[in-house]
Amino acid sequence: MQSKYIWLKGRLVNHSEATLHFLTPGLHYGMAAFEGIRCYQTTRGPAIFRLREHIERLLGSCKVIGWKQLPFDAAQLIEACRLTVQANGFQECYVRPLVYQAEGGWNLSSDAGEPHVGIAVWEWNGYLGAEAQEKGVRANVSSFTRHQPNVMMTKAKIAGNYPNSVLAKTESMRLGFDEAIMLDGQGMVAECTGENIFAVLNGRISTPPEGNILAGITRDSLIHLAADVGYEVATQPISRDQLYLADEVFVCGTAAEVIGLREIDFRTIGSGRTGPITRALQDAYRAVVSDNHPRSAGWLTRVDTEARPTRSQDDLRVAI
Ligand SMILES: Cc1ncc(COP(=O)(O)O)c(C=O)c1O
Repeated sequence: MQSKYIWLKGRLVNHSEATLHFLTPGLHYGMAAFEGIRCYQTTRGPAIFRLREHIERLLGSCKVIGWKQLPFDAAQLIEACRLTVQANGFQECYVRPLVYQAEGGWNLSSDAGEPHVGIAVWEWNGYLGAEAQEKGVRANVSSFTRHQPNVMMTKAKIAGNYPNSVLAKTESMRLGFDEAIMLDGQGMVAECTGENIFAVLNGRISTPPEGNILAGITRDSLIHLAADVGYEVATQPISRDQLYLADEVFVCGTAAEVIGLREIDFRTIGSGRTGPITRALQDAYRAVVSDNHPRSAGWLTRVDTEARPTRSQDDLRVAI
């Protein structure tokens, strides 16, 4: 996690100074909302992929938590992300804004205490391994069930949701797999620990409906990129054995990007290599994030233009 500066509560501080008190309630009860965003190198300098959509999802997560006010609005958080990347001088990096419950809230109410905001950036490549893009990875169906609505809020990227992912991922890796596929409470395929999932069934791209899953921004991007080349993506329930029989299965997320699953539960998927549709979507994704695609202009926010310091958190309280 090497970087020089972290943006904390409205200003950039040295990496070593970005510390929190042990008695920060967000740490004890998982009351924090976060985003994972990527900044990519382009010929016109670094650019952040779908920054506005990520910040909007972050504000949505805060609303789901129940906070009524935040110290910053969307425009300020967008600016702060750009500023943090710029200050650290990275061409490519991962961007992690986090809103966390601070200064009270020990009565288990989001009405007590105050949400504070920080943003860190670091260089982070090959989330599912160096060869994942090329060769695909191996996954198992987890023994842990995915969250379901009204137990946890699956549309929100809340820190306290993530032990479910950590349990599944740790189990998978200890079993020798690279990633876990999680089923929902009804036994249908939901998503992976940090990625959404797609299957090519009889030549048709399908993905589980949004009900139980995080509505991934990469998922949304791939649905658009697939439509651009003539593939309508069907949103439909997918069973575990449909995955086994699929022509291709791939997963996508900001950290992992677009990765084929070459094996699930010791069954070879399709040819056992990254399939042609997965490859086409990987290529389209790469083109769009490198500013070489008709959709790039709408989806990339350049870092090096107009980034300026934001106001401090004392200036403003923003209702959400
Ligand atoms: C559980 C889960 N599902 C799906 C995703 C993919 O979402 P996105 O494409 O917005 O990164 C993530 C990552 O944020 C995740 O944590």
